[in-house]
Amino acid sequence: MSNAASPLLIPKIPWSSLDRRVGRELINRERYAPTVSLYRWWARRPHAVIGAILDQALEAVGSDLRVADPFSGGGTVAVEARRRGLPIYAQDLHPWPVLGLSIALDGCPPEKLEAASKELLKRLAPLRTELYVRPCPVHGDQSEIVHLFWVKDVCCPSCSCNVSLFPYSLVTKASRNTAERHGYFGCSGCGGVTKRLLETASGFHRCGSCEKWLPPAEDAMLPDRVATCRHCDHRFSIFDPRVVAGKWRLVLVQRLCRVNDSELLHFDTPGASDHWDGRPAVSTALSGEIPPGVETSVLRSMGFATWADLYPDRQLRVLVATSEAVRSMKVSAPIRRRLLLAVCGAAEMAGHLSRWDRYYPKAFEAIANHRFAVVGFSCETNLLGPRGRGTLPRRLRSSVEAAKWMSAMGSSGVSPERLKTAAKRQLLTHRPRIAYGSSERLGLKDASVDLVLTDPPYFDDVQYGELGHLFFAWAKSTGLLGTRHTPPLDREAVPNSSRGNGTSTYEEVLSRVFKETNRVLKTSGRLLLTFHNTDLRAWAILSRALAKAGFKIVAMTVVAAENQHDHGKRGHRGFTKDLVLECRVEETENDGLVIVGDHQDSESAELIAAGKALHATGDRSDQDFARSFQALVGQLNERRIVDGFSIAAK
Ligand SMILES: C[S@@+](CC[C@H](N)C(=O)[O-])C[C@H]1O[C@@H](n2cnc3c(N)ncnc32)[C@H](O)[C@@H]1O
Ligand SMILES: [Zn+2]
Ligand SMILES: [Zn+2]
Ligand SMILES: [Zn+2]
Repeated sequence: MSNAASPLLIPKIPWSSLDRRVGRELINRERYAPTVSLYRWWARRPHAVIGAILDQALEAVGSDLRVADPFSGGGTVAVEARRRGLPIYAQDLHPWPVLGLSIALDGCPPEKLEAASKELLKRLAPLRTELYVRPCPVHGDQSEIVHLFWVKDVCCPSCSCNVSLFPYSLVTKASRNTAERHGYFGCSGCGGVTKRLLETASGFHRCGSCEKWLPPAEDAMLPDRVATCRHCDHRFSIFDPRVVAGKWRLVLVQRLCRVNDSELLHFDTPGASDHWDGRPAVSTALSGEIPPGVETSVLRSMGFATWADLYPDRQLRVLVATSEAVRSMKVSAPIRRRLLLAVCGAAEMAGHLSRWDRYYPKAFEAIANHRFAVVGFSCETNLLGPRGRGTLPRRLRSSVEAAKWMSAMGSSGVSPERLKTAAKRQLLTHRPRIAYGSSERLGLKDASVDLVLTDPPYFDDVQYGELGHLFFAWAKSTGLLGTRHTPPLDREAVPNSSRGNGTSTYEEVLSRVFKETNRVLKTSGRLLLTFHNTDLRAWAILSRALAKAGFKIVAMTVVAAENQHDHGKRGHRGFTKDLVLECRVEETENDGLVIVGDHQDSESAELIAAGKALHATGDRSDQDFARSFQALVGQLNERRIVDGFSIAAK
């Protein structure tokens, strides 16, 4: 890209056909980019968008293109760059996604990984039998428990009777079958679970144990996390310190039975042989205290003190035994890392955190939705079992698929670098480099890259550091990460009230990362970034951070970014699209702005108005930004961006 005259990238990209491709990708991300299932990280950008931008840059610069991503997270930019054989420098504050990304790019041979996965599952077969193979009272010995369901029993602070914290009376439909007529109902008074017809003439169901009427299936029994005692009608918060010491109790199991030559999945109330106790010893990483935080406090206030507390005995035994089995295997280092990464991933199915979809029976990963959701009813997946989401066999299969996908691209081994303050700045050669540490400092020489393609944290949308703690504990426990590693969360570019990092830290870190980005970019180079947020403050900060770092916005457009369903938004309508900005380092005479696309829908129109305000305001005050945005957005009916300045001032 030669200086002022160099062509813009955004106008040359076929955005409208890209929107359709993104739509398809978001329905099944794993199919389009198998590496996404290797490790959980939040807010991954669509591979189709990143790929199209890289292709355009390749055309403009040629095969010498050097790319960097200072907020690499889920690694979309690095993976797509490697697939094109491009040198890439990726850095993130947090060691877990950096570890995951280095494993995704490790060039591990898929056949060897497949053989090692089979060997591992073979070694674990006796444990699987010991823990989960149990006779079914109806179908006999050929039966295995695939899910176990737990309810938390607490003591009413007023009358001291039991209250079982079922969130709804309907615990689950009896099967996924659309014609299914039965379901299982839980009683908060006596704690019993009973099979009943879903539709009854009165619309009500009676508990099979205590005969009392249960609330209708749709009525929340813990609205705003408040429980009502069935015995004395007292209402109390489930976070009341007097009740958090309650106990988890096994109330339902799902069995997979062999009947003649087919398999049958059904629920059952647990019998004596379905219980198992035997808490394994765990590493200090797992017995360590869950730190306080904006997201983690919900765990602490529900009585979970350590990471190990999130797991029922059997599951903990499986996870600990699997990591020991991997360590005792004779396999190469990349294969071992892959296997251990699958163990850490499976740990997200934490049996006291996983939720259950009662209408389309299936389990959910604990933090798939960007938060730690806590309820009184949870689902434990048999992680060695043949059915269910997030199990080890499934994760290992996905890992093999990811290895196949990347090996076709001829990737080469790469190990994560820990970026110390005095780290040497190097040129980017053909080898990919992946580093962790705050990107306020990058391990690259001045003016050494052509394109920085990235997306910073979208203000406080996702508390990456806090959510990542769980994986971090497992990565230490399995030996994937050294026990001394502590991410410098005080430098995380995410406002977080429990750490005392307000909007000013967000602004400071963002500005410094952009300044560093400017340093490593060639004068002809470009910064392309995506962004969206519903808080006006986030935009004002972005405006100043870019301007202070010497960036000038030269082109913009809007592109599809996420599925409304997978996004845990807080009470208001969120964005499903991203604003894409193209910036260059100042010192060009022409500072015009090119807007690509017509942006008729309200979401795109609002993002473009915010983008224009960024271009117009630069390094000025919050009020200037707010004024500019209001003028540009005009009378748009449907609005998503709220005035965070006045909300914060109240
Ligand atoms: C929106 S995500 C990036 C997602 C990524 N582009 C993808 O497609 O998966 C933002 C990332 O910035 C990281 N981050 C936050 N503060 C940082 C800092 N000071 N230095 C480097 N990375 C930081 C977070 O850990 C997070 O992974
Ligand atoms: Zn059975
Ligand atoms: Zn009571
Ligand atoms: Zn009852």
